[in-house]
Amino acid sequence: MTNILVTGSNGQLGSEIKEISEKYPLFHFIFTDVEELDITSFEATEKFIADKNISFLINCAACTNVDRAEEQIEAAKLLNADAVKNLALLSNQHQIVPIHISTDYVFSGQGYKPYTEDETTKPQSVYGSTKLQGELMLQKHCPNHITIRTSWLYSPFGKNFLKTMLNLGKERTELNVVVDQIGTPTYAYDLADCILQIIEKIKSNKDFKDFGTYHYSNEGVCSWFDFATEIQLIAKNKCTIHTTDSEEFSTLAKRPHFSVLNKSKIKNTFDLDIPHWRERIYHCIKRIKS
Ligand SMILES: NC(=O)c1ccc[n+]([C@@H]2O[C@H](COP(=O)([O-])OP(=O)(O)OC[C@H]3O[C@@H](n4cnc5c(N)ncnc54)[C@H](OP(=O)(O)O)[C@@H]3O)[C@@H](O)[C@H]2O)c1
Repeated sequence: MTNILVTGSNGQLGSEIKEISEKYPLFHFIFTDVEELDITSFEATEKFIADKNISFLINCAACTNVDRAEEQIEAAKLLNADAVKNLALLSNQHQIVPIHISTDYVFSGQGYKPYTEDETTKPQSVYGSTKLQGELMLQKHCPNHITIRTSWLYSPFGKNFLKTMLNLGKERTELNVVVDQIGTPTYAYDLADCILQIIEKIKSNKDFKDFGTYHYSNEGVCSWFDFATEIQLIAKNKCTIHTTDSEEFSTLAKRPHFSVLNKSKIKNTFDLDIPHWRERIYHCIKRIKS
């Protein structure tokens, strides 16, 4: 059995890992959230890890409220950076491979072609800069790590754009959605499956050396306007989506205008097939409705 510790497992991604875990009978999962394991405490994390013979750690815990982070900088840093340092130090000490999740918000968003892993980072928000600090902690303290940057995560769990649009689409006949932010939605179920496939591949290759940073989202490119339009269409809501822009729809944290991630590295290294964002909305909406 391979013991896998999952932190922050009541969130979107953690919940999807729980859903998909049955597909991986050779893995033994230890699901934790802040009540069982508060990763901001080095001592608590050290004690929790000590006797469990953990091989992999999937860190789904994060401070993900992008606008709140602008006002609660210390809280964001504590979870997105300092806690990742705890995980990095302990993983290195206990020969655990940490799989850490980061974000497209580490980039400036001023680009025009999909970001590769080695492109210059320039976060525009507290969330983005604290997530980047977390990445750097792993690089410094635990060389044998995998960091996966992802974007626009949605699932049947928690709060996300797809669920907000589904609900608003039932209540309203018209909605304005920004058209000048371009990226790719990521179905958390697909990311969960990708992570477990990566673990399988690392497990089965004793000489595995390709640690480092990877990008993962679904295939394709769209604006939030396109995403919202497709959601209403699939949900058969009679709600017309109109375009607006970031200036009209202002938020505390600055959002990247373009944050499409280039996924060639993850596809080639781990031989992954990635589904298109459009087809995966069906799957998620079907689960929400059933
Ligand atoms: N959501 C997105 O659109 C998006 C986009 C790009 C990247 N990401 C990254 O993807 C990863 C997963 O995101 P997600 O949307 O699944 O996050 P999420 O739903 O916000 O889940 C995070 C979980 O961590 C828990 N947590 C909070 N403080 C903790 C602590 N001290 N110790 C342990 N757990 C704690 C949270 O509990 P509470 O709810 O009680 O606080 C929550 O259950 C994150 O690293 C995020 O930065 C997300």
